[in-house]
Amino acid sequence: FAFTPANQEWAEAQITKYPEGRQASAVIPLLWRAQEQEGWLTRPAMEHVAEMLGMAYIRVLEVATFYFMFQLRPVGSVAHIQICGTTSCMICGAEDLVEVCRKEIAPKPHQISEDGKLSWEEVECLGACANAPMAQIGKDYYEDLTTERFEEMLREFRAGEVPTPGPQAGRWASEPA
Ligand code: FES
Repeated sequence: FAFTPANQEWAEAQITKYPEGRQASAVIPLLWRAQEQEGWLTRPAMEHVAEMLGMAYIRVLEVATFYFMFQLRPVGSVAHIQICGTTSCMICGAEDLVEVCRKEIAPKPHQISEDGKLSWEEVECLGACANAPMAQIGKDYYEDLTTERFEEMLREFRAGEVPTPGPQAGRWASEPA
């Protein structure tokens, strides 16, 4: 693994933001950039980040396995969909969204759709319970999902469009600032 020249330059700039001896503080942004570049976090990518930060590989792996946002196996080339399945979302329809995933993407979590574009998994609470049910896709939250809107979103992703993040029913838990 190697960062592209632009990403390498960006990564080195991130490291300089932290005091001498605290370079490990840059681990999350560097892992995120590696994932954006490759689509998921390969072991060579994590080893490269470890080397850049003077960290043991196991320490980097600990971070990468702690956060849902890091993918340690291949994902759909366009979108990896993380459906929240915790209580508020479950009560408000998360299981229906999971059924849509099984039907429209792949029967099991972490399988990639036949067209290679989409994958999915169920995750624990993502902290947007007021607008349940919701899903995280990449770094964006899609909230107040209905099965109809969710199916439409999958069609948009497959067509190369990026649905507008946020509450999909036009509702805000509080007025946006
Ligand atoms: Fe789904 Fe909290 S229960 S975001």
